[in-house]
Amino acid sequence: MRTTTRLFCVTLIALSFVSTAFAQQPTLYKRLGGYDALAAVTDDFIGRLATDPQIGRFFKGSSADSLKRIRQHVVDFLCNATGGPCFYIGRDMKTVHTGLNITEDDWNASVKHLVATLDKFKVPEREKNEVLAAISGLKGDIAGR
Ligand code: HEM
Repeated sequence: MRTTTRLFCVTLIALSFVSTAFAQQPTLYKRLGGYDALAAVTDDFIGRLATDPQIGRFFKGSSADSLKRIRQHVVDFLCNATGGPCFYIGRDMKTVHTGLNITEDDWNASVKHLVATLDKFKVPEREKNEVLAAISGLKGDIAGR
């Protein structure tokens, strides 16, 4: 085999190893610590939202059972959205938040709470940014509707 052909083959093999390594990167769900970690993060986040007078007003009047149901849906939603093995059976984000009149200000306050939660759980910068990017993508379906 000519040297250039050999070099070409070696490069191809090396590239295939690199792409395989990237393809097999664990899901965000796994990197966050799996279901229990996600559930704990959700509980902390919802706890902050519920006790903030600006955001908590949206949940006033919900029964304890309704709150449990929302919480479970949020856990499943996040599990599904981060590549976990959950199947989300709740309503889509647009449907469930339309009519609540969540403002830009409410949205920003809730993102601050999410950052505080992620920091409390010492979620590494990379995963923190991935979670925040995923949530930012939902803004148009949740706020200003
Ligand atoms: C300012 C921010 C937010 C506020 C005030 C808010 C408020 C609410 C309220 C009041 C409900 C209950 C509605 C109902 O049962 O009719 C709800 C449900 C829900 N929210 Fe949000 N939300 C916010 C952000 C988010 C975010 C960032 C997510 C995504 C992680 C999310 C996911 C959900 C889910 C999955 C449900 C349950 C859907 C269902 O019952 O079918 N929310 N939200």
